[in-house]
Amino acid sequence: MSDLQLTPEEQALLEGAAGPGVQRAMEIVVTLGRIYGAHDLVPIRHAQIAGVSYKNLGDAGVAFLNEWAEEGAKVRVPTTLNPAGMEIDRWQDMGIDPSFAQAQIEAIKAFTKMGITPTMSCTPYLFPEYAPQRGDHLAWAESSAVAWANSVVGAYTNREGGPSALAAAIVGRTARYGYHLLENRRATHVVEIQCPVRTIADFGALSYMIGKRVGAGVPWFADLATWLPPLPADLTQGEEAGDRLKTLGAGLAAYGAVALYHVADYTPEARELGEWLIRPDAKRIVIQSLHEGYGVMDANPEITEIDLVTIGCPHASLSELRFIAHYLTGKRLATRLWITTSQITRARAAQEGLIQLIEAAGGEVVADTCAVVAPVRSLGIRTMATNAGKMANYAPMHSGVKMRYGNIEQCLQAAITGSWPEDVVSN
Ligand code: F3S
Repeated sequence: MSDLQLTPEEQALLEGAAGPGVQRAMEIVVTLGRIYGAHDLVPIRHAQIAGVSYKNLGDAGVAFLNEWAEEGAKVRVPTTLNPAGMEIDRWQDMGIDPSFAQAQIEAIKAFTKMGITPTMSCTPYLFPEYAPQRGDHLAWAESSAVAWANSVVGAYTNREGGPSALAAAIVGRTARYGYHLLENRRATHVVEIQCPVRTIADFGALSYMIGKRVGAGVPWFADLATWLPPLPADLTQGEEAGDRLKTLGAGLAAYGAVALYHVADYTPEARELGEWLIRPDAKRIVIQSLHEGYGVMDANPEITEIDLVTIGCPHASLSELRFIAHYLTGKRLATRLWITTSQITRARAAQEGLIQLIEAAGGEVVADTCAVVAPVRSLGIRTMATNAGKMANYAPMHSGVKMRYGNIEQCLQAAITGSWPEDVVSN
């Protein structure tokens, strides 16, 4: 039996002092705490809610959210939302079915009624006002963002589910277990890399190979810093380092169940605690080539005609938008290109004139959603291309499309010509 201790205030919330909505939330947090053997609850600074798309929620999910909101549940900490199934203000332009759109809007209304900010993005860490800090406790439900917060920032969060993150937001606390405890943050595997890892697509291929091998473990990358530019002080721009780590964490979480990784002499916790962070029984993994990862992610080499090129999984950063805008300047696209991002990043990019350059070439900068959570099959899309490791796995699985996978230049060339170029060298 767990010896979970509650403060008098927490006990009162559990007994319904703040109403049934808060009581329901406290019951979820306490039950999880008891299951996982937590001794107490810890205040959180921010929550990120996943499972926002109507494609995942269905009618039962929307009804559940409405009921919780009707019970008077309100979040006590800043709380943001994962991508929805469509761009909220431009769903007609996307060709979304009105019945889908109506249900999606109803779900967003239930979230906002609870006080949640409808950012509709999987990259809350790219928003200056929400970016977590070293040592923050969070309740984040987007697995790619969890990997970023724990690893790149050195914040503390478990891989929450949609309801548990929402419950934590409503009570402002989560149970202290798992990655909230330093002991559980020690590495289970030491990874040595003996081949070049240069592009975002290379980091995606690597993420497959390590995710598959470590499962829910904690990898320690002994020499990956060689392939990373220094981490910038302002991580909200993206930059080369951030864009590679964004893809690495997303793929590790998707192909394994990784919530935390360390890069020796690079990520904050690894710099502070050094090799103490490696468990004495850690297993060794040596990677000599990325061939296996590319083989799995670029699984349909027979596909040459591409219906949709999609970049921005996790949601594109300002630096990715800068690269794409400059690459496409003066070009005309032959096939559909979606760069998926947040409203916040799109607005920042528009101030620099980047959106205008991409749109002039015929590209679409789509906010609030992505090609996994949007109903792309019903938009007539059968073949896709991407440079994002997680997208290469999730889009075929969730949307039944066939995928090509390669570096960003290959993807953009595919958008310009409409067919997949076998070799485009990355700069
Ligand atoms: Fe984000 Fe969609 Fe990828 S939610 S991490 S862009 S699958």
